[in-house]
Amino acid sequence: MNRSSSSYFKYFVWLLFPIFGAYLLYPYMMASEQQQQQQQPRQVLPTNVKPNHYDLWLKPHLDTFVFEGRVKVNLDVIESTRVITLNTHEIKILSATLGYDDETLSSADISYDPKKTTASLTFSGTVPAHSQALLDITFEGILNDQMTGFYRSSYKDDQGNTKYLATTQFEPTDARRAFPCWDEPSLKATYDITLAVPTELTALSNMNVIDEEKLKDDEKWKQVKYATTPLMSTYLVAFVVGPFEYIEAFTTGKHNGNPIQTRVYTLPGSSEQGRLALNVAVEALEFFAEQFGEPYPLPKMDMVAIPDFESGAMENWGLVTYRNVYLLFDEKASSIQFKKSTAYVVCHELAHQWFGNLVTMQWWNELYLNEAFATWVGWLAVDHIYPEWDIWTSFVNEDMPRALKLDALRSSHAIEVDVADASEIHQIFDAISYDKGASVIRMLSSWLGVDTFLGGVRRYIQKHKWGNASSNDLWNSLSEEAGMDVAKFMTLWTKHVGYPVLTIQPSGPDSINVTQSRFLSTGDLNAQDEVTTWWVPLHMLCSDGDIKPYILTEPSQTFQIPSDGLFKLNAGQTALYRVHYPQATILRLADQIKQQDQELLGTADRVGLISDVGSLMVSGEQSTTAFLELARSFEHEKEYFVWSQLASHMKSLISAWYEQPKEVMDGLLSVRRELFGPLAERLGWDVRANENDLTNLLRVLAISNAGLSKHEATIQEAKKRFWAYVEGDNEVLHPNLRSTVFNIVLSELTNNNGNDDELTRAWEAVLTIYQDESLSSDQRLMALVALGYTRDAALIERYLAMASDESQVRSQDVIYIYSRLGDSVEGRDRLYKYFVDNFDKLHVKFSKNISMFGNIVQSTVQGYASFDKLKVIKEFFKDKDTKEYARPLQQSLESIHVRAKWVERDSDSVRTWILSQ
Ligand SMILES: *[C@@H]1O[C@H](CO)[C@@H](O)[C@H](O)[C@H]1NC(C)=O
Ligand SMILES: *[C@@H]1O[C@H](CO)[C@@H](O)[C@H](O)[C@H]1NC(C)=O
Ligand SMILES: *[C@@H]1O[C@H](CO)[C@@H](O)[C@H](O)[C@H]1NC(C)=O
Repeated sequence: MNRSSSSYFKYFVWLLFPIFGAYLLYPYMMASEQQQQQQQPRQVLPTNVKPNHYDLWLKPHLDTFVFEGRVKVNLDVIESTRVITLNTHEIKILSATLGYDDETLSSADISYDPKKTTASLTFSGTVPAHSQALLDITFEGILNDQMTGFYRSSYKDDQGNTKYLATTQFEPTDARRAFPCWDEPSLKATYDITLAVPTELTALSNMNVIDEEKLKDDEKWKQVKYATTPLMSTYLVAFVVGPFEYIEAFTTGKHNGNPIQTRVYTLPGSSEQGRLALNVAVEALEFFAEQFGEPYPLPKMDMVAIPDFESGAMENWGLVTYRNVYLLFDEKASSIQFKKSTAYVVCHELAHQWFGNLVTMQWWNELYLNEAFATWVGWLAVDHIYPEWDIWTSFVNEDMPRALKLDALRSSHAIEVDVADASEIHQIFDAISYDKGASVIRMLSSWLGVDTFLGGVRRYIQKHKWGNASSNDLWNSLSEEAGMDVAKFMTLWTKHVGYPVLTIQPSGPDSINVTQSRFLSTGDLNAQDEVTTWWVPLHMLCSDGDIKPYILTEPSQTFQIPSDGLFKLNAGQTALYRVHYPQATILRLADQIKQQDQELLGTADRVGLISDVGSLMVSGEQSTTAFLELARSFEHEKEYFVWSQLASHMKSLISAWYEQPKEVMDGLLSVRRELFGPLAERLGWDVRANENDLTNLLRVLAISNAGLSKHEATIQEAKKRFWAYVEGDNEVLHPNLRSTVFNIVLSELTNNNGNDDELTRAWEAVLTIYQDESLSSDQRLMALVALGYTRDAALIERYLAMASDESQVRSQDVIYIYSRLGDSVEGRDRLYKYFVDNFDKLHVKFSKNISMFGNIVQSTVQGYASFDKLKVIKEFFKDKDTKEYARPLQQSLESIHVRAKWVERDSDSVRTWILSQ
């Protein structure tokens, strides 16, 4: 899945909005360290019987929202028994019989345990050990509206009437809402699935249709039967029923043997928007078959856009389901950022068809591996399909910093943790599992070499296909391939919290002393913090271009450097650590950059240097003025990712400094303006023929940063184009630039003491775009976010009112409003007041969805940067029962503390620096 129930979704919200900085929208593992110590036993079913085949029949009713079902399960009886316990959730069992040899036992008693989501069937007699039995159950369930299990999703038909389709989301533990089953990932079985549906609808499942006929007793219904699946886990079973249309393509068959029929299904009218995803899918299926040394095992691959979808996408075997915004891309109207996220999400899900579906984790504690690997290999496939996107630099620029930022807090956690039950499983999706996990995989694959690494993965897949495996099994296969002990290295990174900062001190004319210690953004490591001695590949890039493969294995060691003193560690930024250089080394590197000698420091190295200095200024190892000086050496920079990294640190600086005097704020804005203004002017507003995608992104970034730093020419042009666009000239505003222009215009316009209604007209024009259901979801979301760029009190209040009105903003989208206002200097206090005033109401409303509540808390307080405010917030939560959102709260408070310390420490020197410019 792409971050499920809670998390998959938020992760992608983040991918969507890198330039909005909506970076707090992911949930947190709440199993705190204490909870881990008193680990609950895993909640698993008795092992007296083992399922090996399910014959499943379902008849969903889209008018009454119930479904009828019958499941016949072939069981190996391991121990003689008269009680069979299996998983069910909100399912009513109508009858159950158990047959073996020539006997048929009827059920004498059915008891449910709603807490454990199980049902126990007690039979009239005992079934003997070693027999083959057939359990036959009829049941009824609910097509719920909770986006989980077998659920309904609504859409509007051409006449504007609300209609429903039925779909599934089982990962991790909701197959039990659709049919009684043994709902554990390693209990694999084969499936024969039959769906009874109204004749006019399309019904899809994991496998291809082998038979379709009208129901004899009701001509309005048909019965669709699918081929038997291979051995698979319950959480990957899927069915979708709706009025779909599709587009289709076939893989070349080069690595898959037969060409694979690949389709994108959508509601009527949108199938062409699936073209990008379809093209990516046929390439990715071939790429993965080659890399994994194993053909795609099913005869077809269907991908379906679902209007109500909790996560980003779900890798059901042969039937991948997506949020609209991750499958559909309108070449003419969508912004380029969505092109990358669509390509990536498709590759991520298709990678799971092997890694996850063919070889499955033994238990959910291994889920991090599934997701971390799919993240890494998903990007690997995107890199193969779109080499011009410089994906690994993008990874260094966006994915790694998320991991490094969260993992620099004391309240972070190790990648690998055990999970006992559904609620704990739901909580293990966050930037640590995905981004730190993927960063660690990338570090390993770079160290071993990508070919060796993939060789190990092939061994693993060959050895464990159709079965289950654990991360140790992967480390073993990699060790065999590489001829070294991979586990020893990996467990240092997966079982321990945090990562190191390497402090460099000169220790001789041409040598340095490198010392490692855990990096904390509070800058106050003490004896109680966990001490790990990491195994750190140094990858020292030397002035002659040579890369020295040094490895740091001790708390501190001495290494040779080139005699001219010019070097950089972590060449290519493949490893997970920060480097604290002496000022002299930074000056040498900055000189190198000013000379535009891009031979030595590649794009990723320049991004990494900014990222290290930018983070170390927050923790206090480097000074903020050193960062500002370094930033200025990039005025001739050409690469998008370098500018993007600079922009993100400038933004957090300006955001943390927001309570400083006006002359200081103006000074900071002018530093940013002097960097981005000329860049914006150089790039202009119009896309030129044959311009590449990264230049397009750079233009968006430049205009956005210039416009939000009072660059007059940019603001005037933005206003001009905005009004022309609102009046119907679609051409005047390229889709890539729409949200940026909305943001700039709404942020710059004031209502002029009520003398001028230009602001209100502009704000309402954007509101109209948000409300236009005929527009694609990406365009509408961008408009929703843009509304929060206004600085006008009355409009901010209107925006907040929208957050409480479900008829205006669907509750799944409320988080965008919180996130935007929390990030806005003018919106922050109003949001906080609204949150405090409505706390009980909000808690009740979102308490069913605790990760969402955690996000709301975090978004509300994310922008603060003072000890006073920290005190006020702590005071507010003092008498609240915060258990369910303890981790996000704790992480938010820690982040405020970090920023408050930073401002306190450096505000005087920054002021002096600015006034001296
Ligand atoms: C999981 O895989 C192992 C082999 O890797 C196998 O021995 C075990 O039986 C499998 N577990 C189940 C429940 O099938
Ligand atoms: C390196 O520096 C650290 C910290 O200053 C010191 O404890 C250590 O002894 C030095 N190591 C070497 C090999 O010089
Ligand atoms: C939980 O919250 C997420 C957003 O944070 C939302 O997408 C999802 O629909 C919610 N789940 C339920 C069951 O309400």
